[in-house]
Amino acid sequence: MTATKEEANPLAEGLQLRRRPDPCILVIFGASGDLTTKKLLPALYALAVRRLLPDNFAIVGAARSTETDDGFRERMQQAVKDHARDPFDDETWERLASAMRYVTLDFADDKGEDELAQVLTDLDKEHNTRGNRVYYFAVPPSAIGTLIEEIAERRSAEGWVRLVIEKPFGHDLESAKELNALLQKNFTEEEVFRIDHYLGKETVQNMLALRFANGIFEPIWNRQFIDHVQITVAESIGIEGRAGYYEQAGAIRDIFQNHLLQLVAITAMEPPIDFTADMVRNEKLKVLKAMHTPGPKHIVRGQYGPGFVEGVEVPGYREEQGVDPSSTTDTFVAAKLFVDNWRWADTPFYVRMGKRLARRETTIAIQFKRAPHPPFEDGAGEEGLRPNVLLIHVQPNEGVSLAIGAKVPGQGMRIRTVHMDFLYGGAFREGLPDAYERLILDAMLGDQTLFTRSDEIEEQWSLVDAIVAFWQRDRPQFPNYAAGTWGPTAADELLHRDGRSWRRH
Ligand code: BG6
Repeated sequence: MTATKEEANPLAEGLQLRRRPDPCILVIFGASGDLTTKKLLPALYALAVRRLLPDNFAIVGAARSTETDDGFRERMQQAVKDHARDPFDDETWERLASAMRYVTLDFADDKGEDELAQVLTDLDKEHNTRGNRVYYFAVPPSAIGTLIEEIAERRSAEGWVRLVIEKPFGHDLESAKELNALLQKNFTEEEVFRIDHYLGKETVQNMLALRFANGIFEPIWNRQFIDHVQITVAESIGIEGRAGYYEQAGAIRDIFQNHLLQLVAITAMEPPIDFTADMVRNEKLKVLKAMHTPGPKHIVRGQYGPGFVEGVEVPGYREEQGVDPSSTTDTFVAAKLFVDNWRWADTPFYVRMGKRLARRETTIAIQFKRAPHPPFEDGAGEEGLRPNVLLIHVQPNEGVSLAIGAKVPGQGMRIRTVHMDFLYGGAFREGLPDAYERLILDAMLGDQTLFTRSDEIEEQWSLVDAIVAFWQRDRPQFPNYAAGTWGPTAADELLHRDGRSWRRH
């Protein structure tokens, strides 16, 4: 691909390498939920705009609520208008909507399953989708079991099947193992796509490019040169009306168990031999197996009280609708983790994540050791010479920034920290695709590289189970941080004890 060609078609930038998926039908279980309207349909629309969907393609929405095909199409059209990243275009919408159907389905009821099977057979005939199916499970784990068995029972001899399973994938190690066993009884691992949408984020994949497409980072990407790593997944939003789910999950299951641990794995993994699903996942698995937390003193949990976020007054977690007024659910977790291998032994990975923090920010900060012998006078730096930091801005303001010391112009030798910045917005012309665009397309193509394998999920749960077991021994004093701050003071102390501090904001 030449530069001239890329310039001629910025919309297609970066996408030409992908083949188009086979004809297929996408069935969305949980089609009346938020994920479908806010993420899945907007992502499908973006794929349609870029002509990345197969020509023979149909969408079937399935959920408990009663709705007609037309009602479903109208609701999805509105979802695209409200949430898609491209301007609405009638012709593109018609292409997508012409093969869109809805089936009312009580997930435990055979009748709905029969109707669904009939609709799928009809669509195969009308649109020549050849029996190929992607089933997207945007439903709670309790609803998945029956569906899986029904799908396996009705599986036709023709075509392929792919199951995309949203989180939460179980509630603990035991339930995750049960779900894995059920899947493995009915399908092969190659047919199961456990989604962690953080892996679909461009900036997370760029971590792999940064590390493995450049010669300069890998030699210093280890305990000899890196002092520690800090990973922050901060959200300014609260629980957005999801009390039922969040009361059960808390921050530890909502973000730590999946997104956060995957970010650690990507940061710490060894170079894979190639970029195929199993090679990449084998390396991440080794990190997850080698990960441990040094004990309860090194884990901080928090829950927000009332406060102000970006100038707006917000209630505390216990005042949110549907939340138990004496709830002990965590909305913040900070922890010190270690990866016990030759590359990382004794190098702390400090991680923190939470709701209702001061602002939305996901960053991975690699803090290098200080220069061993700066030959300048004391006081050359404003607060002593600061160490180099490589900062990966996962979101927002996606990019990478390297903090270096530079001489302040003028007499004498004064050093100040400056930043070498790469910003996606400045370097590439097309806006960043949403993670779901990438992942839906990958599932249709059968590419599992950016999906979590059963053994990874189980390792993630083992660590979480160990942490939750520590917590069962005491009753937390909640709330312990005000909305709009950076979490409980204990999270600062976690680093201060080691003579370090969280990166300044
Ligand atoms: C989801 C969590 O997995 O990720 C939500 O369930 C959270 O609670 C969301 O808000 C954050 O995703 P993103 O892409 O906005 O960082």
